Amino acid sequence: MSPVRIRTQNYHDIERIIEFDFIRATEAAALNSLPWLGRGEKEKADAAACDAMRGMFDLMNICGEVVIGEGIKDDAPGIFKGEQLGTWLPGSPQFDIAIDPIDGTTNISKGAPNSISCIAAASPEQGVKVALRDIPSFYMTKLSYGPKVLEHMQIKGIEMLKIESPIEETLRIVAQCLNKRVQDVVVMMLDRPRHKEMVEEIRRVGSSLRMISDGDIAAAMAPAIFDSGIDLYFGIGGSPEAVLAAAGIKCLGGDMQCVMWPRDDKERKSLIAAGHRADLGRVFFADDLANGKNIIFCATGISDSAMLRGVKTQGASATTYSLLMRAKSRTVRFIRASHDLKSKTIRLRSDNREHRI
Ligand code: FBP
Repeated sequence: MSPVRIRTQNYHDIERIIEFDFIRATEAAALNSLPWLGRGEKEKADAAACDAMRGMFDLMNICGEVVIGEGIKDDAPGIFKGEQLGTWLPGSPQFDIAIDPIDGTTNISKGAPNSISCIAAASPEQGVKVALRDIPSFYMTKLSYGPKVLEHMQIKGIEMLKIESPIEETLRIVAQCLNKRVQDVVVMMLDRPRHKEMVEEIRRVGSSLRMISDGDIAAAMAPAIFDSGIDLYFGIGGSPEAVLAAAGIKCLGGDMQCVMWPRDDKERKSLIAAGHRADLGRVFFADDLANGKNIIFCATGISDSAMLRGVKTQGASATTYSLLMRAKSRTVRFIRASHDLKSKTIRLRSDNREHRI
């Protein structure tokens, strides 16, 4: 007797089915922003990435809600909190979405390295109230490290890293975990005047710095990528970017510690007035920012970073390098996709049509 086919899918693990469509969205954003690489037009690049991402989501039968959008900078275009993505057909699976169509828009405009497109998405899970936490401050201080450091601290009883500790102590613990000299520890950091003292301290201790101009999602995830050459990420950057990085780091088995960093007294007071006094000194670990197991993280490189290569074009072909992971299985997929530009089309939301790149 032949088996009976059931009418409805009864997958308990919806992320497994849908995950490749998320990566199509970051690939589309990367490919569509490519014409703007090095053209000095960061807003046009961002708009192109957003248009392609929205276009791809228009093809996905999900009820997606953006819970963390881009950090609002100037009048930059973007996909912001509250936007609905997907077809929202009744009965479609729900996803909370954190999104950054381009992290590192200035890099793209300069044709510089370190730009990625990325998404974290979480489906409802018992016991998880807020999977992707929307942090109310503009910036956070971030410290992230890879699985090897975490394992050594947990299993071998090496003293735990604490974001509030003096940098010298942090570097000493990381060196011990990685069985390196402190001089050989490599720290990645955004190149910003606000980091002056941290930079001086790291140089005094003797560790090696890799300063980047923008794009701290890839940078914060780099220590958790086994061959990135980066041991530690440290510094102050955007809060939405911290949550996206936390989702990725969690899938990679590393960890992150973050503390809100109000820019000035005005921001501090407004955070307190909005009821966040208790959270001001709180250390958020990766699991506090990206909670639960039903989380997908994906990213596509636009220009080369410590995490992913950027898009490469040759004649009528483009190659994208992406990363796709789930917190539940912790399977890490590096996906190298070859796109035939003679047949490849990208759907754009702006006119609801497929376009050649
Ligand atoms: P954009 O791509 O939105 O411009 O963000 C780039 C970025 O470098 C982030 O990766 C980082 O978290 C943030 O800006 C740092 O902010 P600032 O440039 O204000 O120091």
